[in-house]
Amino acid sequence: MIYDLIVIGGGPAGYLAAERAGQAGLNVICFEKSSVGGVCLNEGCIPTKTMLYSAKLYDGVANGERYGITSTGLSIDHGKVLARKNKVVRMLVSGVKTALKSSNVVLVEAEAVITEKNHQGYIVSANGSAYTGKRVLIATGSSPAIPPVPGISQGLEAGFVITSKEALNIAVPPGKLVVIGGGIIGLEMAAYYNSIGTDVTVIEMLDHIGGENDIDLVKILQKNYEKKGIKFYLSSKVTEIGNDEVVFEKDGQSQKVSADKVLLSVGRRPNISGIGIENINILTERGAIITDEKMQTNQPGVYAAGDVTGKSMLAHTAYREAEVAVNNMLGKKDVMQYTAIPSVIYTNPELASVGETEATARAKGMDIDTVKISMRYSGRYLAENEGGDGMAKLILDRESKTVLGAQVLANYSSEFIVACGTFIERGLTVDEIKKIVFPHPTVSEIIRDAIFQY
Ligand code: NAI
Repeated sequence: MIYDLIVIGGGPAGYLAAERAGQAGLNVICFEKSSVGGVCLNEGCIPTKTMLYSAKLYDGVANGERYGITSTGLSIDHGKVLARKNKVVRMLVSGVKTALKSSNVVLVEAEAVITEKNHQGYIVSANGSAYTGKRVLIATGSSPAIPPVPGISQGLEAGFVITSKEALNIAVPPGKLVVIGGGIIGLEMAAYYNSIGTDVTVIEMLDHIGGENDIDLVKILQKNYEKKGIKFYLSSKVTEIGNDEVVFEKDGQSQKVSADKVLLSVGRRPNISGIGIENINILTERGAIITDEKMQTNQPGVYAAGDVTGKSMLAHTAYREAEVAVNNMLGKKDVMQYTAIPSVIYTNPELASVGETEATARAKGMDIDTVKISMRYSGRYLAENEGGDGMAKLILDRESKTVLGAQVLANYSSEFIVACGTFIERGLTVDEIKKIVFPHPTVSEIIRDAIFQY
């Protein structure tokens, strides 16, 4: 039998592509070596958000006095949080399996390797059998980056150093957690463990946390978490991992911080080895599979989507890349655009961002204006956030008066940042946006207020 499409990897890119292609009538087989749903469902987005929700509820009640709620004997049961997280993951994984089945996708839970190309198509081997496909979609995801720091491999072996995967399954929370890397994963994990009472220290190489996020907003986020007890060491380079400590260099001085566990969150690397791309000469660049705007690789009929392309390692990017790949397989014109992909750090408050930040726009030499507005302008935000600081920021093109980017540090920003993405995608002008009615009272109105301040 010759399949129309072989999908390697059952994460967001792989399962969505398989579903879409199956629904369109293609004969699809999907290989997954671990658990369907990939990192996102099993050990990434979903488990983290489930745990962070418990932490948020707990924080809310612990600070209930501010809202007229008295709580005594309050506690959080980490074991029950993990059990609920596992239940949510199980439900979603089973939902994906059902969706694949109803899209007529053959799911094989085994590791697949591309072995060759012959006159019939691409040959993939799995479980000792060979499968032929007219097309292949590589959606093998990414793995945590492991920096070459002395002591790290011993630490990983001993379970003293962990990655986000293990951090979502620690049975007994550590007394002291040192997080290396203050990017998205580092901050979300730091937020959870801080809420449940762990003493958390974040060591970050750059002079700010939050990666590419806007500097004004991440400074506020850092202050919020400093008040909650997290210690941050910025411009700090980890030089060694000991048995119960992390050594780092800051301002030319060597310093140490003791730890019960060390979380490594210094980025992720595309999974390009072990899948046989060398057998069909797929080109890579800086460790990622090269794709064009149709998500096609250098080999005709071979596509790649998701983290393995190394472009924007986010599940929602993977979904869209998968759709673009499948549409092109079906002969429908579709191209991938990366200009308005939202990104969210699910701290409390959460930080949502889309498009250019002030720094990226200035680095590209764009002629911009910026608007900054305190979240105190939002009635709903004030009603629900005692003492928490937040901010919204817009980046606008000075000449065309269109939105180039938006960043919001406030809860629910994850739910409305897509509106700003739409302004960017559609090139709406400030005058056009002014005519859009926002529901009142909502936190989203801050965008309207910011637009009217311009
Ligand atoms: P990241 O790239 O967001 O952050 C890594 C941080 O580690 C950076 O700030 C970097 O400067 C720092 N760093 C690198 N080497 C270091 C060293 N030796 N010592 C100290 N600091 C060092 O990567 P992260 O947080 O690991 O996340 C990986 C990927 O997963 C990202 O692409 C992210 O987009 C994605 N992700 C997205 C989530 C979301 O959308 N909410 C949640 C979790 C992950």
